[in-house]
Amino acid sequence: MSRFSQRVESLPPYLFAEIERKVAAKRATGVDIISLGIGDPDTPTPAHIVEAMNEAIHDPKTHQYPTNKGTAEFRQAVAGYYERRFGVDVDPETEVIPLLGAKEAIAHICLALLNESDVCLSADPGYPVYTTGPLIAGGTAVHVPLRPELGFQPDLEAIEPSALARAKMIFVGYPNNPTGAVIEDDFFARLVAFGREHDLVVIHDNAYADITFDGYVAPSFLETPGAKDVGVEFFSLSKSYNMTGWRAGAIVGNRDVVDAFWRLKTNMDSGMFAALQHASAVALNGPQDSVRALCAMYAHRRDLLVPALQRIGLQARPPKGSIYLWAPVPAGHTSGSFADLVLDQADVIVSPGAAYGPSGEGYVRFSLTVPDARLEEAVRRIEERVRL
Ligand SMILES: Cc1ncc(COP(=O)(O)O)c(C=O)c1O
Repeated sequence: MSRFSQRVESLPPYLFAEIERKVAAKRATGVDIISLGIGDPDTPTPAHIVEAMNEAIHDPKTHQYPTNKGTAEFRQAVAGYYERRFGVDVDPETEVIPLLGAKEAIAHICLALLNESDVCLSADPGYPVYTTGPLIAGGTAVHVPLRPELGFQPDLEAIEPSALARAKMIFVGYPNNPTGAVIEDDFFARLVAFGREHDLVVIHDNAYADITFDGYVAPSFLETPGAKDVGVEFFSLSKSYNMTGWRAGAIVGNRDVVDAFWRLKTNMDSGMFAALQHASAVALNGPQDSVRALCAMYAHRRDLLVPALQRIGLQARPPKGSIYLWAPVPAGHTSGSFADLVLDQADVIVSPGAAYGPSGEGYVRFSLTVPDARLEEAVRRIEERVRL
């Protein structure tokens, strides 16, 4: 059929299709499958946030079209959070806009920045929309490999000059999905200088800002001197407050980029539900002990899983952030064949690293978002049943 656009036809095939087919077939015969595939928090949104939503939803004023720019309450809450959490001064009038989750923003910012033949430098492995977003916008995504020997940072000096000459933007994010890597050196300062030198808009995806362990506190890219001159950050409430289903986040940073993004967005959607803007403000302004409890829970799960994987011969290292474990597959396996093996032998779903880009080949990702008892069961099955 030729009725679909080239942009839709050019989207890569869905890499989990084969896994989903197998899972459906197994489940149909009554097999109990444990999914460590998708990273979707299994515990509920904190009660005080649900309560704030409940109150706001009964106010008819929230039932009308919201403003795309966001309510003053929401924008001030984001600015207040950035000030308290990162010591970053943000102008709530010009440097913040609400997002319907970071995902739409990753796709839409490409439409605001790229012309045909422009390049987006996309962290590889990376969140898949870092490469499909540029494609949808008619541009080209050039993979920038995250190097294990550099702590899963890209080697900025190694980027192909011809790609760099056409590049308008770069996507990176730490704490990182899928590798769990965090930034502990001057990478952000080098990124600011790099953005300046090559006239790039730096997009830092801060979806896991507050999910960190062992006393590590993740910085915002915007803490780096000069960062606001070259880029923006996407902040998401999804993981910090177990709000993946609510669709709430914010773009924060360079006012020209924020403005261009806003001009685009007013033509794409009609803003974030006003009641949700209020609930999000309550999440950001309110007590943060639920975030600390979440981190403790994920750290506990990480500490269950890492030794079990090591016992079956996987060189898993405990990450300091994110909700994922990233481990090299055993010799003789691809990421896909090992994910298949674990599903076939242990009835446990893990994500093949190649789903996150070519540099993800040779790895698998385990998500920590299942209850402890299920994770323990997954660990037991992997240890007892997986034969390499
Ligand atoms: C790196 C990264 N960015 C963005 C997102 C999407 O976040 P949101 O739920 O705010 O759309 C995810 C979700 O898993 C992610 O891992």
